[in-house]
Amino acid sequence: MLSDLLARNKVWSHDRTEQEPTYFSRLATHQSPDFFWIGCSDSRVPANVVAGLDPGEVFVHRNVANIIHSADMNLLSALEFAVEGLGIREIIVCGHYGCGGVKAATENLPHGLVDHWLEPIRRLARAFAVDLSYAPDEEARRDRLAEMNVIEGVRRVAETPILQRAWHKGVGVKVHGLIYGLKDGRLRDLDCTIGPGHFEPSDQDE
Ligand code: CO
Repeated sequence: MLSDLLARNKVWSHDRTEQEPTYFSRLATHQSPDFFWIGCSDSRVPANVVAGLDPGEVFVHRNVANIIHSADMNLLSALEFAVEGLGIREIIVCGHYGCGGVKAATENLPHGLVDHWLEPIRRLARAFAVDLSYAPDEEARRDRLAEMNVIEGVRRVAETPILQRAWHKGVGVKVHGLIYGLKDGRLRDLDCTIGPGHFEPSDQDE
């Protein structure tokens, strides 16, 4: 109920001000988050909560199955502002096990418009079909695919002209890949970080 939501907000705002009288006036003047989080829209994976961060500490973009579409103006606008406007140096692509978007991408059923959105995951599933076939069961296969989607997402963020430009200028921004477990509330590092030191220029740059 919306009225319940508004009532809870009133209590929260009141409690916050009690704890720290300057809390809202401080946050209202500016934001200086250390992290840009690109995650899934799933209601069970809120960036601030699972990362233990307060408002003002993480800049967030979320979409179904945390997919990086290279022409997504929404994502690119947020990414550019994160790197160039807010000066963020830690970008996190975060997927999660048990992702409904990943599951939908593995089903031979029509889901509507979201099937267009999920196409990169279907492409990954086809490209790594042999790898994925070693998973012991369907759940493990989807979870491995969710990890692959994060690793691919990190690569795609790194390939954007925004990151290329930053690295060319010597900015030390890094892109990390994490996966969140709905069953244990833990974030795991997929060890696929790309930063200026790891980046290999393409043939065109050489
Ligand atoms: Co999801």
